Amino acid sequence: MAFPKNFLWGAATAAYQVEGAWNQDGKGPSIWDNFVRIPGKTFEGTTGDVAADHYNRYIEDVALMGEMGLKSYRFSISWARLLPKGRGEISEQGVEFYSNLIDELIKHNIVPFITLYHWDLPQGLQDDIGGWESRECSDAFEEYARLCFERFGDRVNHWITFNEPIIFEMFGYVTGAHPPAKNNPFLMYQASHYVNLAHAKAVMTYRELGCKGNIGMSNVINPAYPYTDSKEDREATWWAESFIFHWYYDPVLKGEYPKEYLAKIEARYGKLDITHDDLRLLKQAKSDFIGINYYQPTRIAAPDSKADSNEKNNRSPGAAGDVSFCGNYKTVMDPLQFEYTKWQWEVCPDALRDCMHRIKDRYGDIPIYITENGLGDEDPIVEGEVLDKARIDFIRRHLIACEQALDEGIQLKGYYAWSWIDLLSWLNGYKKQYGFVYVDRSNLQRKKKQSYYWYEQVIASNGETI
Ligand code: BG6
Repeated sequence: MAFPKNFLWGAATAAYQVEGAWNQDGKGPSIWDNFVRIPGKTFEGTTGDVAADHYNRYIEDVALMGEMGLKSYRFSISWARLLPKGRGEISEQGVEFYSNLIDELIKHNIVPFITLYHWDLPQGLQDDIGGWESRECSDAFEEYARLCFERFGDRVNHWITFNEPIIFEMFGYVTGAHPPAKNNPFLMYQASHYVNLAHAKAVMTYRELGCKGNIGMSNVINPAYPYTDSKEDREATWWAESFIFHWYYDPVLKGEYPKEYLAKIEARYGKLDITHDDLRLLKQAKSDFIGINYYQPTRIAAPDSKADSNEKNNRSPGAAGDVSFCGNYKTVMDPLQFEYTKWQWEVCPDALRDCMHRIKDRYGDIPIYITENGLGDEDPIVEGEVLDKARIDFIRRHLIACEQALDEGIQLKGYYAWSWIDLLSWLNGYKKQYGFVYVDRSNLQRKKKQSYYWYEQVIASNGETI
């Protein structure tokens, strides 16, 4: 059996997507609370105002996790629930909510795995200092992280600083699909550095406070493959791999930026504010693990023209059919060769195994958690039962890839299905479902899906029934 005894069988969510209660009990507004109110920004104008109402129903939700036998729950903290303006004044009601949630999880023997930042920056920080465009934001993040470690660190041993910087930076500063909806690649790269700085500061604070657990970051990985073996496609793949993978993982796992790529983007977009002290800090702030969010690979080809693409798309970096913003590569979709979901995301379990090896080859034998993986679908309801066979098949195939990776010597510590419960998809509203638990949008009642029972068996047998 490949899965070790203490393997963390988990599932994940994020605050804005699941909590609702957007202005309850003193919570401050986040950039998402405002962004969803701009006409045309989200699918059919959906918001996370209510979401799955997890804030008010967490006891019922954790009971369902306990009943399933879930080993670990990954969730994010809403920064503006703890610090309504982003820094300064603390909302004790906000602290109490997460404290109670953690206690409830522990009562059910579920390991809490906390993400500090899953995209919902307090609006106050966007207004006052320009959010991630400002170096100061990394200090505000450190203040927030310190508060979390001080209040919850006695019970929580697993911390993720950021979820998928590539997504909120690229959508926020290039495609405009996320707040603050700008179109300026220079700002994206600069924000990217300030986020890395914020991560490093939080890691250093974690160590300084003498916390005993593990801290790291989660990023999405869409391993890049040349569409053909041509020189042009292989060259384009270098660009894709440098941006999607090395630009985001090197600072966290090596404490440095990929030199050649950095030189090329600075030549194109301008000199970034990265100091020697910053680089020293990145080197010092060693992560204990890396979290991988994996959904799909990318098939890369040379672009038809080298011009910058300012295309306003709202798909993942690497989503099939797009030209990269820098104009150096394009992604290709080929339904004759590859398999796709309803939302046109390629299904390729072997690329999950491959990306774990790519990480090991480049950064050494670091502990890995798959912090997200799952199928977005419209689940069929037959005679009142949610029959999400396609999700079972998807997760099963990816777990087989994990099992192989373990056999090949990868230090894989846990797997978190995305998502625990049906929640708000940032750009696809409630139409795209991911959960083991269905939420009836008319009354917010929960119902176990077919996949819930299946995952329950997988956990009980420690992976034997996959
Ligand atoms: C990841 C995010 O990028 O993908 C999640 O961390 C998100 O928050 C998930 O929900 C699926 O994306 P989408 O667009 O299908 O909801």
